[in-house]
Parts: sequence; structure tokens; C-alpha cells
Amino acid sequence: MADRIRKAVFPAAGLGTRFLPATKASPKEMLPLVDKPLIQYSVEEAVKSGIESILIVTGREKAPIENHFDISFELEQLLRERNKDELFAMVREISEIAQILYTRQKQALGLGHAILQAEDFSPNEPFAVLLADDVVDSEVPALKQLIDVYEKYEAPVVATMQVDGPAISRFGVIDAEEVEPNVFRVRDMVEKPAFEDAPSDLAIIGRYILTPDIFPAIQKTKKGAGGEIQITDAMRDLLDERPFYAVKLEGTRHDAGDKLGFLIATVEFALKRDDLGDEFREYLRSLDL
Ligand code: G1P
Repeated sequence: MADRIRKAVFPAAGLGTRFLPATKASPKEMLPLVDKPLIQYSVEEAVKSGIESILIVTGREKAPIENHFDISFELEQLLRERNKDELFAMVREISEIAQILYTRQKQALGLGHAILQAEDFSPNEPFAVLLADDVVDSEVPALKQLIDVYEKYEAPVVATMQVDGPAISRFGVIDAEEVEPNVFRVRDMVEKPAFEDAPSDLAIIGRYILTPDIFPAIQKTKKGAGGEIQITDAMRDLLDERPFYAVKLEGTRHDAGDKLGFLIATVEFALKRDDLGDEFREYLRSLDL
């Protein structure tokens, strides 16, 4: 039987250059969609998918992430004194969501290098990786969709989505054969290919289930696209040795680390809110566009 996926790694050391100036001194993972930081969405997704233990790979300027998942003593006391029970419960719940550990990636050498920092965290069991920029709005939590495939095939899994046109070159791209509806066996993968060279229109989305043999593979990986140590290159290296799968996600994926993607996600999430949706919709309708 496949090992249960209990651990998840959140690479969060990136410099957020796509979202300057907001990310100059604040982590991009703390940008709020409506009122909740990006990273909380994916931590909640992980917990709903059965994750118990989380490693957040941080860097300089990332302390607000640790503070967010810690107890906020003064705030809790104030909310208690003012009998704001619901807010108190919500704030407390965030600090109790899961066991969260932190480690620093001292240099931003790429996603593969960030994941390598998890070697001591999960030396012997498979683990999930979630990129907080990719917010997936779905009925079944995105990570759970990967875990289901992992449990069936007992092999690493990446999330994928169809991306039309030249935008494909902003992603890792797989070449794959569909083995059942929406599940693919990966033949090859390449990080950020030119549009003409992309092996398919199936982009890798920021959810992975990896096995510990990825660590030596990352160690061997040389700098790739963008001069960075890429997880796609390390996974590609393993393709010769073991099967690898991809699951086409059910749901909508937002690139919330991109200004336009962030605006779209904000509007969509706000429209779905019970407390804001109606008024916001009315406001949007009133705009003379
Ligand atoms: C990373 C991965 C890429 C993947 C993408 C998904 O790229 O390297 O393979 O397609 O996330 O969001 P990044 O967006 O960090 O450049």
C-alpha cells in the first residue's frame, strides 16, 4: 500500500519580483485575496487534503509568515475583552491549523534548491509541495486530487492544466500519455520551453507529490531555465528510473503572484463571498466599462 501523504513543503523564499513594489519588504505569500493571505489558502488546502506537518521554506523579509501562523497574544486578548468571539476563534484557529516548521533558504537559487531544503524534513517518506502563488479554486482540494492519483499508482504526481498559445512558455510542460480520464503517465518534461518547442499544451501547476529520491536528483541538477536549479529538471532526471504521473486539475487555477492574475482572483473570490458578493456585484455593474 502507498504511504500516506502526511507532510507538505511550501517554498516561500522567492523575491516576488513580479509584484513590486508591494513585495519589496513584505512577502508575496502574505498578499491577501479579499482578506486572507495567499499562503493561508494553500495551507488550508493541504490540511483539508490530510496534511499534518508543514515545512515552510522562507528567506529574508519573510517573518510575517511565521507571525501569521503564531499566536497573536495582544490581538487575542483584545478580541476577548471586546467579546468578539467569532474573530477570536478565527484568529486562534490559524495558529492551530497544523504543525508548522520553518527553514531558511539562504540564497534564492531556484525552486529545486528550495525543495532540497526539505531533505531532513522528509528523508524517508513521500511529501507534497505546494506553491502558494497558484491558488486553485475547486470542489475537491487540488492537493487531494494529486494524493488520490498517488495512492492508486504509487508514484510521484504533478498537477497539470491545459494552457493555450504562447503562454505555455511560462510553465514547466509535460509530454504525456492519458492513462485514464484526466490522469497521464509522463514521458518527458521541460521547464519554460519556447512556444515552438513545447511538447504539449499541458502545463505543470504548483502542486506536486514527490518521493525522497528527488533529493539526490536535485543535488545532481545543474542550473537550468533562468539560471536556476529547477525542480522540473530534477524530476525529468528521475523519469528514466520510475513512473511519473500528472493529473489534470478539476477547478480554476489563479496565478495570484501575477498582478493581473491577482486582480482576477480577487474579483472572483469577492463575488463568491456571502458578506460582500452582492454589494460588490452591484458596484461592478454600476461601472461604465
Ligand atoms: C514554477 C515551476 C514551473 C511551473 C510553475 C507553476 O515556475 O518551475 O514548472 O509550471 O511554477 O506555477 P515559476 O512560476 O515559479 O517560475
